[in-house]
Amino acid sequence: MREIYLDNSATTMVIPEAAEAMVEACCVKYGNPSSLHGKGIEAEKIIKETRERIAEFLNCSPDEIFFTSGGTEANNWALFKAAEKLKRFGKHIITTSIEHSSVLEPVKELERRGFEVSYLSPSKDGIISLEDLKKELRPDTILVSIMHANNETGSVQPIYEAAEIIKNSSDKALFHVDAVQSFGKININLKKEKGIDFLSVSAHKIHGPKGIGALFIRKGINISPYVYGGDQEGKMRAGTENVPGIAGFGAALKALKNNVEDHQKKIKGLKERFISGIKAGIQDVVINGPLDERALPNIVNVSVLGVKGEVLVHYLEQWGIYISTGSACHSRGGSVSHVLKAMGLKKEALESAVRVSFSAFNTEEEVDFAVEKFKEAAEELRDL
Ligand SMILES: Cc1ncc(COP(=O)(O)O)c(C=O)c1O
Repeated sequence: MREIYLDNSATTMVIPEAAEAMVEACCVKYGNPSSLHGKGIEAEKIIKETRERIAEFLNCSPDEIFFTSGGTEANNWALFKAAEKLKRFGKHIITTSIEHSSVLEPVKELERRGFEVSYLSPSKDGIISLEDLKKELRPDTILVSIMHANNETGSVQPIYEAAEIIKNSSDKALFHVDAVQSFGKININLKKEKGIDFLSVSAHKIHGPKGIGALFIRKGINISPYVYGGDQEGKMRAGTENVPGIAGFGAALKALKNNVEDHQKKIKGLKERFISGIKAGIQDVVINGPLDERALPNIVNVSVLGVKGEVLVHYLEQWGIYISTGSACHSRGGSVSHVLKAMGLKKEALESAVRVSFSAFNTEEEVDFAVEKFKEAAEELRDL
């Protein structure tokens, strides 16, 4: 059976160039990057090049990029270390109620450790209000964490305006942005936008391998090391580097860089085609999230009212179409989405929500087939 993979926000296929670079790093350039000899230097070069590529994508300096095991670790690193650094100035943290669990759970842990957390709620289109942010900022606010784009609805948060507000209100508070979903989909310019202190990215959302990501830490922000025990990553995260992962990340970025505009245009086109197809073909469908440029070009969250999301996911799977009910981290837990709940969705829309997410490797024909099967599902499953 053919497979139509429309769950690219959960993860993406590793492109052949990235897989080849990983194999080369495993079997040919396998030296320890800390070794003095040529084999080590060969591996070190891979790390240097990938670091430069990430920096180029974010428009920052390579020495502001630190490799991690992915977005989750990058988020944990920024939140715990920023809180630790600034706790003598205050114990108030601001985040949003629609963050990924890799922000929400560390923040809950910080609450258990005595920090006070304010959660910004989104409006019904999934976007937080800057007025609410202004109201929540206090003299003892030391940290703000706002995601760039939401992983369930694709809603893009006004991070640049938020950065300005935070920096105008405090000379101490640090600002962290989880950019795992937006990285490579929309442009990020950290040289221009100076108010962002930390930013997290991950390779497996952009056709790189799983288990590798990076944290941007703005130069001049002195936080203590996250992992002790060696000189790697500027002594901030000790341990022999994941060179194959870093090689794959670098190759994925190289491929993306050569085609970034085409990719962005293509995913946007596929998403628009899908939305107009289901809107024209099915009655009572609701798009959960913005329909304009305030949404990522590749994610759409949709409720086919009367059809349970989980049932729809399994119906489509019979046809080789893969989508999800929400965040991959929780989709097996059976709980309703905290993101859609925070947006105030009614029970019926909440229960029927599914996320469809595209990559530039999907085709129009795949989208048309998926739309057909969505229509069939609505007809067959609503009757049940
Ligand atoms: C918004 C967001 N943040 C963080 C993560 C975690 O990234 P990783 O899987 O690389 O740990 C994800 C993954 O789905 C995500 O969507």
